[in-house]
Amino acid sequence: MAKKRICIIGAGPSGLAQLRAFQSAANSGAEIPEIVCYEKQSDWGGLWNYTWRTGVGEDGEPCHGSMYRYLWSNGPKEGLEFADYTFDEHFGQEIASYPPRAVLFDYIKGRVDKAGVRDWIKFNHVVRDVRFDEASSTFTVTARNSKDDCEVSKEFDHVIVASGHFSSPNVPYYPGFESYNGRILHAHDFRDAREFADKDILILGTSYSAEDIGSQCWKYGCKSVTVAHRTAPMGYDWPENWKEVQALVRVDGRTAHFKDGSSKTVDAIILCTGYKHHFSFLPDDLRLKTANRLAAADLYKGVVWTKNPKMFYLGMQDQWYTFNMFDAQAWWVRDCIMGRIPLPDQPVIEADPVAREAAEDALEDDYACIRYQGAYVEELIAETDYPSFDIEAANQAFFDWKKHKKKGIMQFRDHGYTSPMTGKKAPPHHTSWVEALDDSLESYLQTG
Ligand SMILES: Cc1cc2nc3c(=O)[nH]c(=O)nc-3n(C[C@H](O)[C@H](O)[C@H](O)COP(=O)(O)OP(=O)(O)OC[C@H]3O[C@@H](n4cnc5c(N)ncnc54)[C@H](O)[C@@H]3O)c2cc1C
Ligand SMILES: NC(=O)c1ccc[n+]([C@@H]2O[C@H](COP(=O)([O-])OP(=O)(O)OC[C@H]3O[C@@H](n4cnc5c(N)ncnc54)[C@H](OP(=O)(O)O)[C@@H]3O)[C@@H](O)[C@H]2O)c1
Repeated sequence: MAKKRICIIGAGPSGLAQLRAFQSAANSGAEIPEIVCYEKQSDWGGLWNYTWRTGVGEDGEPCHGSMYRYLWSNGPKEGLEFADYTFDEHFGQEIASYPPRAVLFDYIKGRVDKAGVRDWIKFNHVVRDVRFDEASSTFTVTARNSKDDCEVSKEFDHVIVASGHFSSPNVPYYPGFESYNGRILHAHDFRDAREFADKDILILGTSYSAEDIGSQCWKYGCKSVTVAHRTAPMGYDWPENWKEVQALVRVDGRTAHFKDGSSKTVDAIILCTGYKHHFSFLPDDLRLKTANRLAAADLYKGVVWTKNPKMFYLGMQDQWYTFNMFDAQAWWVRDCIMGRIPLPDQPVIEADPVAREAAEDALEDDYACIRYQGAYVEELIAETDYPSFDIEAANQAFFDWKKHKKKGIMQFRDHGYTSPMTGKKAPPHHTSWVEALDDSLESYLQTG
């Protein structure tokens, strides 16, 4: 029988998890399908592959990168550790719990380098179109090779979309933006906090980008941070030059006016207003439309496209769990494609995401959300040979993280947590986060 042909779109942490999943099956002696992974950038790692570019990339495509200089993990590494490749194995030493971007990028690369899957990836290939033909039950995927400036089309039995969903910015309009005399940018285009040294900045949004970009700007010397909330304030114990105000109403010249009647003259407005699930390369019948939530719409087991179960999506959920959740999904998708996990009848497939959404809607607080996503990871892992790990210990790392943030929003990264994989507690970093201006891998790995 001819080998199945599999197309993976994207070589970020999700796509790489899929490559590693297939390679691990091959390693155990299984005959695996033929695999092609298209990646539009020239290197792997997805968002973790930092670029200074904004707007459009060298290839004329929208720039994927949303990460910025000096970004440190915003959650404990103990919550994202690969079960088949620990931090200890990669670094050969114990490291602290909130690694900067370069350290996590190195860790992601280490596993796939070891697996030897780079040759499966076609870099500088942006997928432009995917079509499904009912008669032949195959997909035709068209990608543009931006190096050679030519198009390639190829047929596949399955398509796995792993193109991420924190790259296409959600950019709201507020009256007066068109005549504002400072700089307006979205978090997607934020690159270096030092640009805002000695400046008064206004941030819109109250989620992770707002909290972290504000903290970065504060750490690298901005004059003041004002955060306007649409729904509720973040409510941390902020430094004295940091204020939370009600929603932005309008902007007049350089002055922002808020719903509570207050105003502030600011040099820049940073829109930390989230991202859109955006798949410009997919037609209506294959395109996921979902809010950024834990139970993504129309995905059986969070990964199978209910409207055509030959197609899969990875990493489309909002994320407490990240790398090891992508692994759980990738191992499950691999086994589904390889016929090790049978799919149920269509009504069961369709009912599954609906039930998951209802269960999510009933969750009371963030702690319940963490447990919910932990249970989802556990559910998928139980159906494959991905190494099982202590989910309760990973949940605990997230719980402690939340408590530490409440205690000190600029100090939480100074804490260490217990690895669910090794059972060892991370040592503290040699320098407190507020003082640590050098975010290089070399600096982070220094001991003592
Ligand atoms: C600013 C920021 C900070 C974050 N920090 C953390 C953190 O500290 N800890 C954490 O665990 N998570 C963090 N995340 C969450 C992040 O989503 C995940 O860590 C992870 O990068 C998701 O992996 P992914 O592979 O699903 O998507 P991505 O990392 O976005 O990778 C998708 C890949 O698909 C490629 N691609 C897209 N479209 C196409 C196309 N048409 N054709 C070919 N290739 C394509 C892209 O080039 C990219 O390489 C952060 C996210 C953001 C935005
Ligand atoms: N250091 C790090 O590791 C780091 C740093 C940054 C981001 N991240 C990651 O990046 C991902 C995305 O986070 P995110 O914060 O960018 O997006 P997000 O979690 O989706 O939050 C979007 C925010 O935008 C607000 N918003 C949306 N539309 C708005 C409007 N019209 N006016 C005002 N506010 C509006 C929302 O407010 P409402 O609550 O009112 O809806 C919400 O606070 C997360 O996975 C996060 O972990 C990580």
